[in-house]
Amino acid sequence: MADLFPRTGTILIADACFRESGRLDALGCPILWVTASEQEKTLATVERLITQLLERQADRDTFLIGVGGGITTDITGFTAAIYKRGLRFGLVPTTLLAQVDAAIGGKNGVNFDRYKNMVGTFRQAEFVYIDTDFLQTLPPRELRCGAAEMLKTFLLADARAYEEAVRVFQGPQPVQMPERLVRRAAEIKYSLVEQDPEDHGVRQLLNLGHTFGHAIEKCSTQYEHGEAVAIGIVMAARMACEKGLMRPEEAQRIRADFVSVGLPVEPPVPEEQLRAAILQDKKRSGSTLKFVLPETIGHARLWEESVTA
Ligand SMILES: NC(=O)c1ccc[n+]([C@@H]2O[C@H](COP(=O)([O-])OP(=O)(O)OC[C@H]3O[C@@H](n4cnc5c(N)ncnc54)[C@H](O)[C@@H]3O)[C@@H](O)[C@H]2O)c1
Repeated sequence: MADLFPRTGTILIADACFRESGRLDALGCPILWVTASEQEKTLATVERLITQLLERQADRDTFLIGVGGGITTDITGFTAAIYKRGLRFGLVPTTLLAQVDAAIGGKNGVNFDRYKNMVGTFRQAEFVYIDTDFLQTLPPRELRCGAAEMLKTFLLADARAYEEAVRVFQGPQPVQMPERLVRRAAEIKYSLVEQDPEDHGVRQLLNLGHTFGHAIEKCSTQYEHGEAVAIGIVMAARMACEKGLMRPEEAQRIRADFVSVGLPVEPPVPEEQLRAAILQDKKRSGSTLKFVLPETIGHARLWEESVTA
């Protein structure tokens, strides 16, 4: 990894979970630490980082590297985008979710008030370095959340990778995730992003499971985001069957696969409550309801419904 960047003029912004192990010390760069929690993913943290960058006399030639999960990579991208009108940066995602999702695609940002990712920019990292060794220390629940996003990506575009990933997650723990599968998921996301960098079209396919998933997160605190997405995907598959877009056996298979890898598949509140939450959101913004519905394992489509009173 050290070959990827110049030693002088590089500053790491790293997840404090690596502080004690000294694992990043060998890189020989100054390190600014961040605590990976949604409460710390704020403008105040970015302000603190900016102060620390100024203290270290960071200038427009400084190269930033974010090392950590999605919280750290989002904060790093945003800080890099605004400090002195923009610094070059790279990312070393250390959770599965960040390796296949958060670190790919150039979206960054922080939370504001009670709104997630309310403030941010689009700015691409110069490199995303994926090292699956980091996943060995990941708590099982974090791994499952990443698994949900990875399986989601394969459901959109690669049936064979989907099957392989399911087998890996069903296998012995801790999971030995083949690097090629992580790369494949990252590549699929990257290619959708490349076709639609600002999220007005095909990139929205990546929201498979998210319409129901967000409603689940709104109605209950029982599940982490990835888990809510897993339930959302199962609900989207069922909806696809109702619309005649997917064969019921395939929807059942997705559900069984998710159960077999330890992902939740049942919503924590009645479905009517979720539908009401989705409708309420859309009525407020006056827009149409957007779903991503799987058609087969390896293919999905956007589906819009107008909101009726
Ligand atoms: N920018 C995007 O396109 C995008 C996409 C998806 C998610 N996100 C954002 O990503 C964030 C979630 O990311 P996340 O799930 O990676 O969460 P995270 O960054 O909070 O990391 C999860 C936990 O794992 C710890 N951790 C990180 N790497 C570890 C390792 N190798 N071993 C052991 N522990 C480790 C962290 O300290 C933290 O406690 C959310 O804030 C979300 O908004 C952004």
